[in-house]
Amino acid sequence: MFEIETRNLTKKFGRLIAVNDLNLQIPKGTIFGFLGPNGSGKSTTVKMLTGLLTPTAGDALITGTSILKSPLEVKKRIGVLPEDLALFDALTIWEHLMLSGPVYGLTKRETEKRAAELLNYLDLASTRNTYVEQASHGMRKKCSLAMALLHNPAVLFLDEPFEGIDPVASRNIKDLLLHMASKGVTIFLTSHILEVVERLVTDFAIIVAGEIVCRQTVAETLRSGESLEELFFKHVVRGDVEDLEWIG
Ligand SMILES: Nc1ncnc2c1ncn2[C@@H]1O[C@H](COP(=O)(O)OP(=O)(O)OP(=O)(O)O)[C@@H](O)[C@H]1O
Ligand SMILES: [Mg+2]
Repeated sequence: MFEIETRNLTKKFGRLIAVNDLNLQIPKGTIFGFLGPNGSGKSTTVKMLTGLLTPTAGDALITGTSILKSPLEVKKRIGVLPEDLALFDALTIWEHLMLSGPVYGLTKRETEKRAAELLNYLDLASTRNTYVEQASHGMRKKCSLAMALLHNPAVLFLDEPFEGIDPVASRNIKDLLLHMASKGVTIFLTSHILEVVERLVTDFAIIVAGEIVCRQTVAETLRSGESLEELFFKHVVRGDVEDLEWIG
């Protein structure tokens, strides 16, 4: 059994097929990297898997449960760092966590304990009373990440977790993800930072224009002698600077 399994998962926006017939199988404890150029369908896939968007066709099973048949069951078992972070400007970082815990059935006391520890780990302790409206980009992202982790989910979806994050916090997040995966948590992340992906993920897929063009384990990539960057460039069409003859 797979922890994440998509079956012909498809999303159309009018005539645009953002995600086309996606079939992915991800075993428990995997750190899976979902790579691809801008607009290739990564966030749309994450949104479908986490209940933020309804698929046009197909289904997905998360820990064996259908996202279409039992969306609430699935929501309880997953943590999500969404692309747009989904925070409230008028609440502080601490207030976000205090609201999140009880939603997942945590007591106030347990919520406070976990929130304090997470904020400490993510270097947000001193800014916990900052309103989101006044928080920096990285602070907001770490707040959203802390919310995704608070209930200790079985499956974690992270849309660009390292974008805009400082090097120390990035290292801490990587350590945490490796620790969670070693305990059986399955992590699905998107990232454009290929060096991070190469060192962190065990498995990855490259999606281009809604279709998977490459699906490998990092061990297979290493054996092939190709870097992830070379593989990525092989599958993604690149513009030519010479076409911009009027610039400079
Ligand atoms: N709500 C929407 N309505 C219409 N089109 C959409 C919508 N959301 C996404 N799209 C389109 O679907 C395609 C895939 O978008 P998506 O956000 O999944 O890309 P992505 O791979 O996450 O890109 P990025 O790396 O820039 O975050 C794009 O062509 C985008 O314009
Ligand atoms: Mg995206």
